[in-house]
Amino acid sequence: MSVSQDSVVTLDDVTKTYQTGAVAVQALRGVSLDVRRGEYLAIMGPSGSGKSTLMNILGCLDVLTTGRYLINGHDVASLGENDLAEIRNKEIGFVFQQFNLLPALSAWRNVELPLFYGGVPAGERKERAIRALERVGLGPRIHHRPGELSGGQQQRVAVARALASEPAIILADEPTGNLDSASTEDVLSLFDELHRTGRTIVLITHEQEVADRAQRMVHVRDGHIIDPAEVAA
Ligand SMILES: Nc1ncnc2c1ncn2[C@@H]1O[C@H](COP(=O)(O)OP(=O)(O)O)[C@@H](O)[C@H]1O
Ligand SMILES: [Mg+2]
Repeated sequence: MSVSQDSVVTLDDVTKTYQTGAVAVQALRGVSLDVRRGEYLAIMGPSGSGKSTLMNILGCLDVLTTGRYLINGHDVASLGENDLAEIRNKEIGFVFQQFNLLPALSAWRNVELPLFYGGVPAGERKERAIRALERVGLGPRIHHRPGELSGGQQQRVAVARALASEPAIILADEPTGNLDSASTEDVLSLFDELHRTGRTIVLITHEQEVADRAQRMVHVRDGHIIDPAEVAA
């Protein structure tokens, strides 16, 4: 398989098997996927089809069973634990359904946390955290704690946190799954704008209206990427 210079991530025939006691679950059964720089891709599929497994592998949060995964041209299998931690921290911005914000910390403290783990000096951390929050329209809310913000605002804090490290790719797993329709629109317009300004986004969802906002869509069923013609079936 040839690897394009323009690819941020490339999966080549990736499988993932979870072994739980005597039971083996094949969550991914040979997935090949190329995400180009600046692309906004939606990965769709019903519950249990393997979307989160795929996201965890793309985010280097879990390892594949067989196949190959390249990120920015590096074969993930050849990277040691330190290099992987650095890629997770600097190259990948995560957005989760549950926001995963720390309730005791203000918005800007939440956003600066990954920068702290990334070794960015204190003054620069604060500056970058505030800039990221302004970017998502939360300049006036930097001192609010998550409990003092709406669901949509909390998810925007999570997006600011994902942006603060200037990652190569943003991975969002059902980012609107816990939001009402107004907050969903809020977060999706933010993704539209990030895409317009050159970000690479992979958004996982089981909702058609959410996936329709992306530039390209792939469908996952039973651990496979299926042909568009099979989707209606
Ligand atoms: N940590 C795990 N251990 C065992 N089985 C798992 C684990 N995570 C997911 N699975 C199984 O893998 C399959 C795909 O799950 P998942 O990737 O979470 O799907 P989705 O995100 O599309 O709902 C399911 O059958 C699920 O039960
Ligand atoms: Mg999932």
